[in-house]
Amino acid sequence: MAHKKVIDPITGAETTGHVWDDTLQEFNNPLPRWWLWAFYGTVIFALVYWFLYPTWPLGFTERGFTVGSKTITFKSDSGEEITTHWNMRALLAKEMQTDELELKRKEMVKKVAATPFDKIAKDPEMANFVLAYGKGIFGDYCAACHQRGGQGVIGHYPNLVDDSWLWGGDVADIETTIRKGRKGNMPAHKGTLSATEIDQVANYVLSLSGEKVDATAAKAGKTIFNTKGCSGCHTPAATGMKALGSANLTDKIWTQANVPGAKDLAGKLQAVKTVVSNGIQREMPTWESRLSNEEIKVLVAYIKLLAQ
Ligand code: HEC
Ligand code: HEC
Repeated sequence: MAHKKVIDPITGAETTGHVWDDTLQEFNNPLPRWWLWAFYGTVIFALVYWFLYPTWPLGFTERGFTVGSKTITFKSDSGEEITTHWNMRALLAKEMQTDELELKRKEMVKKVAATPFDKIAKDPEMANFVLAYGKGIFGDYCAACHQRGGQGVIGHYPNLVDDSWLWGGDVADIETTIRKGRKGNMPAHKGTLSATEIDQVANYVLSLSGEKVDATAAKAGKTIFNTKGCSGCHTPAATGMKALGSANLTDKIWTQANVPGAKDLAGKLQAVKTVVSNGIQREMPTWESRLSNEEIKVLVAYIKLLAQ
């Protein structure tokens, strides 16, 4: 609909020609320049963006969307150079290879992997790195059982920070534990020992770590310990054997029998009797196939540092 130019008599500006409520009119001013240019700018930006980056979800295209012309080149973990259309995942991969912190982390992991443990412990930079990076790996894979701080759960998962070991605390032992896993196995004795015998042997076991027990019962218990198979696994001195993962019973450190949680001697005896009656079957999983050599090395160093 063509309309006649109407000029507002007071300002001299053109109006749209419409009148509401007798007098109300609307000026027909041009759009401000800055606004118009900004608008054109966004249109051009959108076109350039569309051309360079993944933009439209179009089902008939190869990937289901337009990929744009911009590319990213990065090295895969195997060292192969990969060029792909621009995308966040490739960008992250590239940043992981060029980011300063990430490069430093990789360099430190290599350094730790090539350094013997006693040197790692003495080098504050490496030790701090192992504590920080190891904490992350431990949190991801181990803490579910051994708890965040590595203190374990008595009766379920051994404490890794007390420097007392079922399977040996040398770096080689700990590495084997992590790589191959371990099966802790003590047979149940409720079928082979009477209740009295179990009570006697429990008295003996507690006497080994200095508990004030019934001396007569403990004496009888000692004989049972040395004739009914206990000493075969725990040694006659009851200090344990790392080849079997059999606990040291003389050190006041308990991993399965909840002696520290008992209020009185009766409770302590009960804790030991329960273990002797029911035996123990528990398993540390193997990690060889799930963690890299470097991660295992960092974990061993981490555990050694925690247990110091
Ligand atoms: C599913 C639970 C579970 C997870 C996860 C687990 N462990 Fe264990 N771990 C155990 C159990 C159970 C034992 C005790 C085995 C036994 O009875 O001798 C154990 C034993 C160990 C020991 C030997 C302790 C000793 O006294 O000799 C070390 C070291 C250890 N784990 C380290 C690790 C590390 C490192 C990780 C993470 C990579 C890990 N564990 C993950 C359950 C677990
Ligand atoms: C076949 C070998 C074997 C025999 C036999 C055996 N034990 Fe054990 N015992 C073990 C192992 C292995 C462990 C540790 C298991 C684990 O932590 O997963 C253990 C753990 C224990 C514990 C728990 C220690 C703790 O720190 O909580 C007690 C107590 C114990 N044994 C007492 C005895 C007594 C008493 C006898 C004899 C009646 C006996 N054991 C016979 C292998 C044996």
